[in-house]
Amino acid sequence: MDHSLHRLVYRSVASAPSEPAHELAAILDVSRRRNAEAGISGVLLHGDGEYVQVLEGTLPAIEAVFDRIAADLRHTGIELLQFTTIAAPQFPGWGMAHVTPAQLRGVFDLGLLRSGCEGEAVQALLAAVSGVLVGRTEPPSAEPILAALPVLQPAGLHVGAPAG
Ligand SMILES: Cc1cc2nc3c(=O)[nH]c(=O)nc-3n(C[C@H](O)[C@H](O)[C@H](O)COP(=O)(O)O)c2cc1C
Repeated sequence: MDHSLHRLVYRSVASAPSEPAHELAAILDVSRRRNAEAGISGVLLHGDGEYVQVLEGTLPAIEAVFDRIAADLRHTGIELLQFTTIAAPQFPGWGMAHVTPAQLRGVFDLGLLRSGCEGEAVQALLAAVSGVLVGRTEPPSAEPILAALPVLQPAGLHVGAPAG
């Protein structure tokens, strides 16, 4: 069995045009619990009726979680953006971080990830997301996720390695 680390990035379209906050919170809740058990880290971007999700872990773990996610009726039109081996996770410690497009505005727009985007665009987005997450800690799962999100400074200031 292949236990090298892999990263899978996909985008999809939310089935309900505006997902209620409690549904997103439920997705994040189950993701954080199950991903922690499976040694998976990642990020879920959600906004404007679409999702982009990054999943990092061993191949069997990624395959198992992606099978469940792909069968989930809360989204459709899943499109693979990246599936590659990685030397180290880009989002270690994040069972499933949550980032909104608003937090990436000025750097990136999720629209850039629509069909046919290049691998470099995906990499740039991942760097921008890393920047947004610098200094943030994972909220407790019971916390109302959306209400708790801090207003963040432009992610572009932090792209790359965390300072200090
Ligand atoms: C956009 C989206 C992202 C999801 N991400 C994850 C995830 O990272 N990990 C996970 O375990 N479930 C995730 N889920 C939920 C799974 O689809 C599934 O409902 C959950 O894992 C429970 O599966 P089960 O009922 O078959 O045990 C996600 C669902 C959606 C719609």
